[in-house]
Amino acid sequence: MNPNVRPENMQRITTKELADKFIEEQIALVRNQVGDKKVLLALSGGVDSSVVAALLIKAIGKQLICVHVNHGLMRKGESEQVIEVFKNGLDANLIYIDATDRFLDLLKGVAEPEKKRKIIGGEFIEVFNEEAKKLTDVDFLAQGTIYPDILESDGVKAHHNVGGLPEDMKLELVEPVKLLYKDEVRVVGKALGLPAEMVERQPFPGPGLGVRCLGAITRDRLSALREADAILREEFDKCGLAGKVWQYFIAVPDFKSVGVKDDKRYEGWPAIIRAVNTVDAMTATIEEIPYDVLHKITDRITAEVPGINRVLLDLTPKPIGTIEWE
Ligand code: XMP
Repeated sequence: MNPNVRPENMQRITTKELADKFIEEQIALVRNQVGDKKVLLALSGGVDSSVVAALLIKAIGKQLICVHVNHGLMRKGESEQVIEVFKNGLDANLIYIDATDRFLDLLKGVAEPEKKRKIIGGEFIEVFNEEAKKLTDVDFLAQGTIYPDILESDGVKAHHNVGGLPEDMKLELVEPVKLLYKDEVRVVGKALGLPAEMVERQPFPGPGLGVRCLGAITRDRLSALREADAILREEFDKCGLAGKVWQYFIAVPDFKSVGVKDDKRYEGWPAIIRAVNTVDAMTATIEEIPYDVLHKITDRITAEVPGINRVLLDLTPKPIGTIEWE
């Protein structure tokens, strides 16, 4: 590894003051690197790309072109939040692409997890590249690479986020947070004024709800998953578990069971609650959820989400269960 990218001797960014200093330094570096040229960024709404976007908007304003691809597998309200924070709040130069139909059409009938991942990853690059090619005067590509991505040299980002660009575009990379750890990126994000829910966001896989809508994805089951997941998040926010649990979500398998609703037979999918704590995602333990909270979540999901007729709780630690159901 290039010795220049080792951050061991850096002072860690733990306070607003240190973050402000880092931001000022990076603004100067980015301006120096980029000059009056344009920079492209795939803005997913995740912590890393959001912080890079906010930093670059501060440094070079409209010279940054953000592209947000909605693959139709985002959690409820996520794409809307990207537009609200960046376009409306920060006046970003933001291109929003709703590619939901493209992704869901390609995924139709595909049940195998690795195949689903490949389709989502491949199509993401395809959509992003199509957009990038339309922009003829871009010289730089910004990325939310962080230090752990460099350590795991074939890291998650390479595979799951923007994986490649058209060879002929020859863009130079701008990676302002590449020497930071995740916690530091969050401190910088806060100092840049990004909303807490964006900066504190849980990890969310690149293929999004695609890994939680098990088996072949259908629009109705995907929609049920999204609504149930939103209810879980809302209830965790209300009872304070949101700040205590590392990752929590709903998975919906592709089978139905019999139930009764309004005195009629009601076949529906189960919604499975997964709520885990971990330090590095290599192992994970199960968070205790008070029974009254579980009852409330169950009542709401079964009453409010069409297609769901049971709520289950996954009590399996990792190992043996992975965090995602996939
Ligand atoms: P597993 O399911 O392997 O997940 O126990 C470990 C952690 O990784 C997250 N995850 C991903 N994160 N892109 C990501 O950025 C992905 O494709 C991906 N797949 C899983 C998962 O949510 C958990 O936090």
